[in-house]
Amino acid sequence: MKKQYCIANWKMNKSFHDCEEFVTKLNNEFIYNGSEMVICPSFIHLNRMKFLTKNIKIDIGSQTISENKNGAYTGEISAEMLTDINIKYSIIGHSERRHLFNEKDIAIRNKIFNAARNQIKPILCIGETLKERKSNQTNEVLKMQIKIACETANFIDDNIIIAYEPVWAIGTGVAADLDTISKTHEQIRAFLPTFLKKSENISILYGGSVNNDNCRDIINLNDVDGFLIGGAALDAQMFLNIYNKMN
Ligand code: PGA
Repeated sequence: MKKQYCIANWKMNKSFHDCEEFVTKLNNEFIYNGSEMVICPSFIHLNRMKFLTKNIKIDIGSQTISENKNGAYTGEISAEMLTDINIKYSIIGHSERRHLFNEKDIAIRNKIFNAARNQIKPILCIGETLKERKSNQTNEVLKMQIKIACETANFIDDNIIIAYEPVWAIGTGVAADLDTISKTHEQIRAFLPTFLKKSENISILYGGSVNNDNCRDIINLNDVDGFLIGGAALDAQMFLNIYNKMN
């Protein structure tokens, strides 16, 4: 069965104290409504966030993962290490990783493989740049990103989440319009079976300037199974409002 997700990507934000404040709010007000809530803080807060949310039905995920299994890779965090502290989700291939850290499709493929091998559900981010959209390359770009990311992990079945995040809508305050989201999600849904087994169970999330005002219209679109949220997920009340509008 396809699930709905509301996923927070905190990026490089929040102190230890901020995490505690955020979770205090959730502990008081979060009511599970059938959609899964996942928060992805920085690596150093993962363990603490696991502990703080232990009494509520919220999952904690990482924002990336090493493409290597283990060894001499200073500063890296492996899938095995995340499994060790019971992390079940990892964002992989976020556009900031691709563009600011030059993460290539092949690296993303290795990350997906390592995550899936360690029972971590990858949240695979795909998305086109404005230039690619304007030159009608969106579908080809998205297809290629999924194909390369998933081709070695043919054991994934439906153990993956796809997050469609047009690069031009991330952090800009201007989400893609409803027609664009609807058509693009429909296309992704249509080509997913070519690359992934049991694709009918795979959730396709939208990300890019989701907020309290636009979330209800977006979630009501066919083929949108939730959100990956940056800016609006930094505020506990705003994130809760969005989550509550999802049922
Ligand atoms: P945004 O970020 O909601 O701030 O646009 C989304 C993301 O980067 O995943």
